[in-house]
Amino acid sequence: MTGDPAAQAIPGGLARALSASRLVVFLTGAGISAESGIPTFRQAMTGLWSRFRPEELATPEAFARDPETVWRWYAWRRGLVAATRPNAGHLAIAGLQRHLPASVLVTQNVDGLHQRAGSDPVLELHGNIGRSVCARDRRPVAQADGEKLPACPRCGGPVRPDVVWFGEALPAGVLEQARQAARRCDLFFSVGTSAVVYPAAELAELAAGAGATVVEINPEPTPLTRRARFHLQGPGGVMLPALLQSLEDTQRI
Ligand code: OAD
Repeated sequence: MTGDPAAQAIPGGLARALSASRLVVFLTGAGISAESGIPTFRQAMTGLWSRFRPEELATPEAFARDPETVWRWYAWRRGLVAATRPNAGHLAIAGLQRHLPASVLVTQNVDGLHQRAGSDPVLELHGNIGRSVCARDRRPVAQADGEKLPACPRCGGPVRPDVVWFGEALPAGVLEQARQAARRCDLFFSVGTSAVVYPAAELAELAAGAGATVVEINPEPTPLTRRARFHLQGPGGVMLPALLQSLEDTQRI
């Protein structure tokens, strides 16, 4: 044991559960990318949904009505993402995954920062803002970026970001893999998510229902907090490196 001060933020029971775990699931949300400078959705003042109306920008109806505006908004967000880097939280999850016997990373984020931090594979429940598809047949369209709405090179129809909008189904195979992992895991981390958007929020409930230890990492309480065995109340960029340190300390004993 090194007695590292960061690792001491981690309760002993959690450090033991982590080092004994057979399958760990990490579910992340916008909060894990907040320290990279990407705005979350629901935080007062800074959250995207406090400044923009989702029904005008993140629904299939909005895109059908005004595809140019929707495309421009995503181009702006793509630019924000391109200017950022993975933070200590993303890097610590990738580090934990390297130490653990088995883990599954599920994210609601579309920013690709987990992949850039070295996690692979990543189950992307809501798509990825870096990819584009034909709005008609959903086949990939390469190199569709810039401010101006591109046309599909095959059919001439509009191109859209490869993300899930309100009212749309999540990619079925990805969701099923995430559900199976949640049912089988012994430790489930919910990191940086307000835990209000379903079906993503259901994963922690599935895990808890199947007997897993649920841990929440979030500076604020959420509807999940009372079901979580541990609440690490602080930023992901502090708590996740502390967890990694505690696992390294245990493995060094
Ligand atoms: P939200 O904006 O709803 O929640 C972000 C959470 O991150 C909040 O609970 C914050 O307290 C927490 N948070 C803020 N800073 C943090 C930090 N440094 N470390 C850890 N946590 C922090 O974002 P999501 O839960 O991801 O969907 O939202 C879920 C979905 O709703 C998104 O994927 C998006 C959105 O509408 C679609 O666009 C379909």
